[in-house]
Amino acid sequence: MAGMRADGVGQTAHCRGVRRGQPATIAAAAVFAGMLWLAPSPVPAGLALAQPVEAAPVAGAPYVPTPWPVVRAMLELARVGETDFVVDLGSGDGRVVIEAARSRGARGLGVEIDPELVQASTDEARQLGLGARAVFERRDLFETDLSPATVVTLYLLPRLLMELQPRLARLRPGTRIVSHDFRLGDWKPDATVKVDVPDRAFGPPFSTVYLWVVPAYVHGSWEGSVADRGRSERFRADLRQDYQALSGNLRVGARSGPLDRAAIAGDQVSFSARLDGPGGPVRHSFEGRSVAGELVGQWSVELAGRAAGPAAGASSQAVTTVATTARRADPPAVPGRRP
Ligand SMILES: C[S@@+](CC[C@H](N)C(=O)[O-])C[C@H]1O[C@@H](n2cnc3c(N)ncnc32)[C@H](O)[C@@H]1O
Repeated sequence: MAGMRADGVGQTAHCRGVRRGQPATIAAAAVFAGMLWLAPSPVPAGLALAQPVEAAPVAGAPYVPTPWPVVRAMLELARVGETDFVVDLGSGDGRVVIEAARSRGARGLGVEIDPELVQASTDEARQLGLGARAVFERRDLFETDLSPATVVTLYLLPRLLMELQPRLARLRPGTRIVSHDFRLGDWKPDATVKVDVPDRAFGPPFSTVYLWVVPAYVHGSWEGSVADRGRSERFRADLRQDYQALSGNLRVGARSGPLDRAAIAGDQVSFSARLDGPGGPVRHSFEGRSVAGELVGQWSVELAGRAAGPAAGASSQAVTTVATTARRADPPAVPGRRP
């Protein structure tokens, strides 16, 4: 097998019936490019397989390698480093996992349905002395255990991504998912970058790389107690979560109101509400993490706006910040659009 270089020179076509040095499959590339132009419209079921993809191996996505600048952009966007375990679903010639090991010191697994591509990837990793850190297995990506992954990389057709999306959204909070050119259904990406690919044979002269960070699942009601100006008060946070978008309502003692700030990023959770009541409005804020089914962090209580009593005239005054743990008031609901 010809050597695989990070600059793409010597790129080898591994698909059956395709001459070495040519794009992996012209027809397959055209399918992917066609999908690109169709996006974001829903892709009619079966469209990909209806195309004449001569050299497509077995399953639902043809082999089209990610261009090298895009591979590097994917690893950069996911901030892949030495502690990461990268899983490439449908790994083709293994370039994403090999590059993650070669240039970033990560470990990884590529799963690929085509045995020739698996063999070629394994040979390449060994030749580069990366055989222990870049491993390839012939396997259906839908039957792959994703639990060891800290980063999942994808270059698959939209209908496969739609099928995978619920599993990906349930991965360990903080797991990064990067996809080349195609989005994960209606899950809004956390970041998007465009990468110039001027010599692309089909479609636009650029690729798009999307990043999602799996959020913890905090949808539901949480209860605990907090010290509010010397008094212990019970609180209840009713959180509504739509992927990484968070909203809801907070009650502390007799005060209650909507959250006006709420965010979730991986396992980091924060929310805040300005609650009216006797003595003037008070801002309650939580900042912490979702850990083993609890919300653990710091709770701040702040007199907000013009307050009565000793704090009269103050526009905003920090009063207390205390460690707090919130526990679920109810078992997590059967997740519908859970992240
Ligand atoms: C577009 S290529 C991407 C290759 C590589 N990830 C990259 O970015 O260069 C998609 C790959 O997925 C593989 N594939 C398709 N369906 C699969 C499945 N069900 N299980 C494992 N691999 C699959 C194809 O054989 C093909 O090599």
